[in-house]
Amino acid sequence: MATRPQSATLQIARALVPLAVLATLIPFAVLYFELSNLYEQKAAREVNDELSTLRSVYSLEGPAGLEVLIEQRMRGGGRKAMLYLFEDSSRRRIAGNVTSWPSRTGASFSWELTRLNRSTFSEPEIMGVAGAELPGRYRVLVAIPRSRWGVPTEVIFRAAGLGLAIALALTIATGYAVSRFLQRHMSSIVETAEEILAGDLSRRVKVTSLPVEFSVVSASLNAMLSRIEDSITTMRAVTDSIAHDFRSSLTRLGARLEMASGSGGGERELRRAMRDAASEVDSMLHVLNSLLEIARAEAGVSGDQMVEMDLSTLVSDVGDLYVPVAEESGLRLNIHAAEPIQVRGHPELLAQAIANLIDNAIKYSPRGTAIELRATLGPLGPLIEVSDRGPGIPADARERVIHRFVRLDAARKSPGSGLGLSLVAAVAKLHGAFLKLHDNLPGLTAVIQFVSKPRRKPPLSFLFRGTVET
Ligand SMILES: Nc1ncnc2c1ncn2[C@@H]1O[C@H](COP(=O)(O)OP(=O)(O)O)[C@@H](O)[C@H]1O
Ligand SMILES: [Mg+2]
Repeated sequence: MATRPQSATLQIARALVPLAVLATLIPFAVLYFELSNLYEQKAAREVNDELSTLRSVYSLEGPAGLEVLIEQRMRGGGRKAMLYLFEDSSRRRIAGNVTSWPSRTGASFSWELTRLNRSTFSEPEIMGVAGAELPGRYRVLVAIPRSRWGVPTEVIFRAAGLGLAIALALTIATGYAVSRFLQRHMSSIVETAEEILAGDLSRRVKVTSLPVEFSVVSASLNAMLSRIEDSITTMRAVTDSIAHDFRSSLTRLGARLEMASGSGGGERELRRAMRDAASEVDSMLHVLNSLLEIARAEAGVSGDQMVEMDLSTLVSDVGDLYVPVAEESGLRLNIHAAEPIQVRGHPELLAQAIANLIDNAIKYSPRGTAIELRATLGPLGPLIEVSDRGPGIPADARERVIHRFVRLDAARKSPGSGLGLSLVAAVAKLHGAFLKLHDNLPGLTAVIQFVSKPRRKPPLSFLFRGTVET
């Protein structure tokens, strides 16, 4: 169901109106009933007082005396607004201005509300009445119309109406004020969004000037923006690097092909040029594959590709493959992976990560040194460790080298594209593990540290401070 956006003023006012109405009407209703009660009691008291006056006059002066008194009262000589009916034993009216005795009452009663006719009025009226039987089977009735003692209904209604009007006005004003308040505080968020849309990715919502509710929203918005900016920056850097890398490769490729075609040289020269071109294409493919693998690891793999596996077996298998490669470079690769270590992992990607670490150790170590490859269960959990006796990586560069395409100057003479450690880091992250690089004094120790049980982040980040976290 499509709903039209509504102004906050209207929505807030609409939510408040029922409350305002209740809050206004309930007190007036209570007031009305309390007053009615009070007024009725007062009227009953007056009527009964008058009735007992009449009775005592009757007992002192008899029917004639009472008749005189009632006539006097009706002429306005006594209590105003009271009505009377004085009847003899045959129910004939002797005096009074009420036409008939109420039908549903007896001869004596102290207070009844009933409809009675005045002798001068044609319409019956609601009256409060009290009656008394007098000696000699006479009876007398005193009544007072409710219009005389009832609560002034229209006054109450008018007051309630006024109250209601004020409450509604306040409700609308509140709705308006709240919506203005929202607008004012949202505007800094909107402004920031517009600045970002205009191309300035570095803009953030100013959190300090906002009320808590808004600053919470703004803070998470800002965090999200930072994250997005980071991703975009990284992506730009990566695309730039790819473009750069490929441009050099393609330039070299082009130059070689050009030379080969223009040289007029013999078949041998041509073949060499083709071989060079093929290896150039190979290395480009290698870069592309590495990038794809990093992307795959970073995107995460589906759960069924992760299997329960023995880390030691994997490390030995990969290590065994590299023993001859190391020997070719005049190095010794020692493998320490005896105890079985169960982890849940992606064997293929883990193997690639281990291979990358060994590959670096072989590439950057001087002949005659040894490389130690280890799989153990550390205090934090399983770990894979590759240590060499090469130049190592300066502490201030250990974070940098993990980024894609970063190669240190010292490494320029050996082949590589600077993607090896990026993949290791991505694979580690995929396994909830960390890549740590530290000094082997001399040389480099690279550790993929698994965390066996999910622990809270703060203590871990504390432990890993000063090393590389991925
Ligand atoms: N074992 C190591 N010893 C010394 N330097 C290393 C070692 N491993 C990596 N590095 C440095 O880190 C950089 C990044 O490594 P890597 O991502 O594997 O890329 P590549 O090996 O293709 O250069 C290397 O260029 C090198 O400068
Ligand atoms: Mg490498």
